[in-house]
Amino acid sequence: MLIIGIAGGTGSGKTTVARSVIERLGSDKMTFISQDNYYKDHSHLSMAERESINYDHPLAFDNELLIEHLSCLKSGQTAHAPVYDFTVHARSVIETVELKPNNIVIIEGLHLLSDENLRNTLDIKVFVDTDPDVRILRRVLRDIEERGRTIRSIHNQYLNTVKPMHEAFIEPSKKYADLIIPQGGHNEVGIQMLSILTEKYLKNGGQV
Ligand code: C5P
Repeated sequence: MLIIGIAGGTGSGKTTVARSVIERLGSDKMTFISQDNYYKDHSHLSMAERESINYDHPLAFDNELLIEHLSCLKSGQTAHAPVYDFTVHARSVIETVELKPNNIVIIEGLHLLSDENLRNTLDIKVFVDTDPDVRILRRVLRDIEERGRTIRSIHNQYLNTVKPMHEAFIEPSKKYADLIIPQGGHNEVGIQMLSILTEKYLKNGGQV
């Protein structure tokens, strides 16, 4: 099993890059995982307490569970990823996503390269490098349209945690990448390079 990790800042286009590779190679050959599903659950806290959490620190994620699920998939077992609801900052108690073992697993997430244990489980490490102004514009639209946020809350969260954590942890983790894709989802050449490498792996029976 080949594990491809796609890291990068919020709004960088990580999901678009991952989805484009899956579209080219066929979803039957690849299992997709988002690190966002592994946000720690805070349903025991009040809404005000949940809103004050730093969701951009590497410790906001339950990476141990993610690593455990990756090792399940490696040994041919199915895993069940939690489902995270951004509108209430908590895990769904009933819903999970079924993760089936496959030749290729593609994971996208903020802190795939900043966490050493997680980084060591990846066979191909990618960093999507998109300008901060483009990333924040995308985030404003997404957080208002899909995550029930106000412009004021996005403004405060961006300055208090998103930007400082990006600068402290995400940007420096770029040095661990095998491949850096500037402009994310719009970089056709970068996406093709990653797709060709993945295809080669499938043809070579497991060798990068
Ligand atoms: O998809 P993306 O990588 O942008 O998702 C990660 C972002 O989600 C983080 O930057 C974090 O600030 C945000 N987040 C949030 N509320 C939560 C959990 C994460 O705003 N409850």
